[in-house]
Amino acid sequence: MTKPTYYITTPIYYPSDKLHIGHAYCTTIADTLARFHRAKGEEVFFLTGSDEHGLKIQRKAQEKGITPIEYVDAIIANFKQLWNELNISNNDFIRTSEERHHKVVQDVLTKIFEQGDIYKKNYEGLYCVPCESYWLERQLVDGKCPDCGRPVEKMQEESYFFKLSKYQDWWLQFIEENPNFIQPASRRNEMINFVKQGLEDLCITRTTFDWGIPVPFDKKHVVYVWFDALLNYLTGIKYGTDDAMFNKFWPASLHLVGKEIVRFHTIIWPIMLKAMGVELPQKVYGHGWLVIDGDKMSKSKGNVIDPLALIDEFGADAIRYFLLREIVFGNDGNFSRDALITRINSDLANDLGNLLHRTVSMIEKYHGGVVTNAGVSEAVDEDLQALVKTTVANFEKDMDAMEINSAIKGVWALISRANKYIDETGPWILAKDEAKAARLQTVMYNLAETLRVVAILVAPFIPSTSPKIYTQLGLEVPAEFLLTDAEFGKMESTKVQKGEPLYPRIEIAEDGATIIGGKRYEPKVEAPAPAVEEPKIEMEPIKEEITIDAFEKIDLRVGTVKAAEKVKKSKKLLKLQVMIGEEERTIVSGIAQYYEPEALIGRNVIVIANLAPAKLFGIESFGMLLAASDGNGNLVLADAPGMASGSRVK
Ligand code: MSP
Repeated sequence: MTKPTYYITTPIYYPSDKLHIGHAYCTTIADTLARFHRAKGEEVFFLTGSDEHGLKIQRKAQEKGITPIEYVDAIIANFKQLWNELNISNNDFIRTSEERHHKVVQDVLTKIFEQGDIYKKNYEGLYCVPCESYWLERQLVDGKCPDCGRPVEKMQEESYFFKLSKYQDWWLQFIEENPNFIQPASRRNEMINFVKQGLEDLCITRTTFDWGIPVPFDKKHVVYVWFDALLNYLTGIKYGTDDAMFNKFWPASLHLVGKEIVRFHTIIWPIMLKAMGVELPQKVYGHGWLVIDGDKMSKSKGNVIDPLALIDEFGADAIRYFLLREIVFGNDGNFSRDALITRINSDLANDLGNLLHRTVSMIEKYHGGVVTNAGVSEAVDEDLQALVKTTVANFEKDMDAMEINSAIKGVWALISRANKYIDETGPWILAKDEAKAARLQTVMYNLAETLRVVAILVAPFIPSTSPKIYTQLGLEVPAEFLLTDAEFGKMESTKVQKGEPLYPRIEIAEDGATIIGGKRYEPKVEAPAPAVEEPKIEMEPIKEEITIDAFEKIDLRVGTVKAAEKVKKSKKLLKLQVMIGEEERTIVSGIAQYYEPEALIGRNVIVIANLAPAKLFGIESFGMLLAASDGNGNLVLADAPGMASGSRVK
């Protein structure tokens, strides 16, 4: 019989810098789901990798005076080390710089181009080089630049566009017919609202840099990095080169992605596949973000957590457990060392570690290490066995529904129950009475057998712990911990072997150092990155007082960015199409040095909606965006995430 298949992917990470704990979070979830499906007996393909092209990487390499590939090679070594140390069980690692991927991207582009879904658009205009401005014929004064009076030149630039707009109605219908495609539901609603505002065709080529995949039908251009990156999911399972492999695993069961890239995966990606005539993935899940002590991770704050250092200190399983247990899957969650240490000490060292330690020690003490089911049962045993059964059933249900936190809580409820069972049955009292020998055996067996089932259930979360439990229980470690073995009573007898504590308790010294298993780890003082120290801000003086009536005259609204592009020949300006309720406006904003146009699409902004229109670089701008800037080159747009477009801001 052929096994059911399960194909799961993580986003492919940008190798612009080393990976941090947020990236480790996403990959840990994917790994846990991959392991769970293997435990169900499915044939799993789990893909992760690196997204290597684009201007950002090219610039980073230039800064270092090396080639982009030299730059990314060094970082990929860090990715692979991290996944190895975190016990990530990916079946392949795809790099977009690989030849196998270039071929897929170029073949797909050619196909879509030939069928007419990609077209070239010329931007043509009269250009004043000193003013870096395009002008329309009618705007010229005596055939010259209206600003400086110098002659203008005819210039043209070209890009290729993918016809997203053509597929808008198909997309809306698809989403309606497949309500589970985008999860959680809140992200689905966001995407529907976004598409209903109208899809713009997508510019999918660039000529301003060359670190990318050349466009096969026009080698001056390289492919836009997202169009390139999304196709990794096909390259990884040999699209176009091995039909048997591809057909086995496609459509993907799950693309697991962070919330900010749901749009690419649920709008652009399905439309690309539709245009290619390839089936759509079954599900895209947008998880939340990890923040550090309530704050976004950033180099300037010095709060970027290196997962390799954490693994060195606490071990991979402890980090995995914390991420999976503490953060409610789908929501943003907080990482803090204190919470990590508390979880390790309570759940891993106390609950699980002690249960194993007490059980194995008692079996050694009372029965020379050998345990068999002597069959002298009491009501309390049935209670424990019933809980094992329901825990296994609920575990499978929860994991199938990706309710990871709930699955873990269920297993830990069983662990607590087993600890309580020790107190209820009082083995040390039974041991004093010869006549109770068989009862004592049964109690010990029930504990060992519960632990065996627990080891199977926790294997997807803490995969290096399960073999340790099995070894201490004296059982042969299987190649795969299978759920079919998580059945109470399957183990006949065994001879336990006491080992090291599963998780040594973490002590905190007075100076903040951690002491784990006798080893001291110096207190962590995260130094902010020196190059980007927080600048001192010369605060501008507060302006003269105004009345509330004067303020009320300003109509501030939430707008949603529908399209964004650089204003030709301007370094500072972006031209945005912003929806304010049903109304679409063009707004030109001086934020090009702070935001990539693509990153703004779908984002909410705050617009001064009743500002008199102004012309910037020949483009009429209807409104202004609110942003905070510190006069030191830092600028952040004000926003109102999740608010309906058109909402008033007061
Ligand atoms: N290269 C693209 C993905 C292309 S997939 C075809 C990319 N790379 S990324 O390195 O910037 O981010 C990769 C993933 O890491 C995203 O899903 C993002 O949400 C996730 N995370 C980055 N920081 C994170 C946290 N602080 N917390 C949780 N996940 C975070 O986007």
